[in-house]
Amino acid sequence: MNIREEKFSNRVKTIQPSGIRRFFEFTIGRDDIISLGVGQPDFPTPSVMRENAIKHLEAGHTSYTSNWGLESVRKAIAEYLGRYGLSYSFKDEILLTIGVSEAIDIVFRSILNPDDEIIFAEPCYVSYQPLAQLCHAKPVSLDTSSTNFIPTAEGIEKLITPKTKAVMICSPNNPTGTMIPADELEKIAEVVKKHQIWLIADEVYAELFYGDKHTSIGSFPGMKDYAIILNGFSKSFAMTGWRIGFIACPADLMKQVHKIHQYGAICSPIMSQYAVLEGLENAWDDVEKMRLSYLERRDLMMKRFDEIGLPYVCPDGAFYMFVDIRKTGLSSEDFAMKLINEYKVAVVPGNVFGAGGEGFVRCCYATDIEKIREALNRIDLMMKGEPLTETE
Ligand SMILES: Cc1ncc(COP(=O)(O)O)c(C=O)c1O
Repeated sequence: MNIREEKFSNRVKTIQPSGIRRFFEFTIGRDDIISLGVGQPDFPTPSVMRENAIKHLEAGHTSYTSNWGLESVRKAIAEYLGRYGLSYSFKDEILLTIGVSEAIDIVFRSILNPDDEIIFAEPCYVSYQPLAQLCHAKPVSLDTSSTNFIPTAEGIEKLITPKTKAVMICSPNNPTGTMIPADELEKIAEVVKKHQIWLIADEVYAELFYGDKHTSIGSFPGMKDYAIILNGFSKSFAMTGWRIGFIACPADLMKQVHKIHQYGAICSPIMSQYAVLEGLENAWDDVEKMRLSYLERRDLMMKRFDEIGLPYVCPDGAFYMFVDIRKTGLSSEDFAMKLINEYKVAVVPGNVFGAGGEGFVRCCYATDIEKIREALNRIDLMMKGEPLTETE
């Protein structure tokens, strides 16, 4: 073994870098490539939020805050959660984090022991599995491809063993855009209560829905003891760069989570907290405008894929379309590589999202509508076997 290899953690060496980022790297500095890759809103954060952050920066409010986050922000979040029938105390059940990313990490580290099993409804967001592996836990895949990419209570229950510590769901989902219907969520809640395991709900896309509104699994009777709600502002308020999210969970678990956050992060950036406070009070019209704009782009993408003849999973939320490329005979990776190399369009191969993702590619439609139009023209050329010419 290379002598330097021994200097690294064995556990870290077993995990792979993010497959989404790998394709994102190809697009950096390449204006000729249209990116349908990274899930990044193309809107700036609403101006009232930016202005409030600037106001506080100029007033010199540049310090740490309480580890929990500002009380005013936690109160506003408690009120926001009430919209979904969730009741959490701002005092000891809501914690501001560095994006949902930190929330996932510290929740896993607070509940998982070595060899514990955690069930992931896959395809799913790329950080779940590696972060569980870093806790020496065993990720267990629920392949949702045979149930229209919706995890079912029945499928989850079949995977539960005495070692199961938690099940994690994400609705609306990244990368499929599917939403778990309320009646299925209710059944999943029953399974969770029966087996007395944690249910981690990643609700970061809650505000981006195109049919039925989001239902939080935490709102079903008796779920407060088992649900861990993760949410944030990166997507709904176009705040990816501000790094702010939150956890809502029972106070006894929060005591554990809080310790890791305290040592590992201290607090969310103060200017981001002030921006969020303003957003929760005064930027809902902007959120709605962005949602309607994504809806328009989703509809365009659906129409063009219908014309091109590539099937897809109908997206009910988030801003992703999971496109079925199996008829091309190419693997997801080969399709994505050919598309980027020969047609200059970046998508993410479905296999990076775990079980059930092979044979699909994820196309993000949070990008300029004219660019989406052009990207789809190029995919059309690829499907027809025609080359991309200079003018395109
Ligand atoms: C499902 C899901 N969870 C969490 C995250 C991370 O969000 P944040 O920017 O709040 O860390 C993402 C980002 O793409 C996501 O898609």
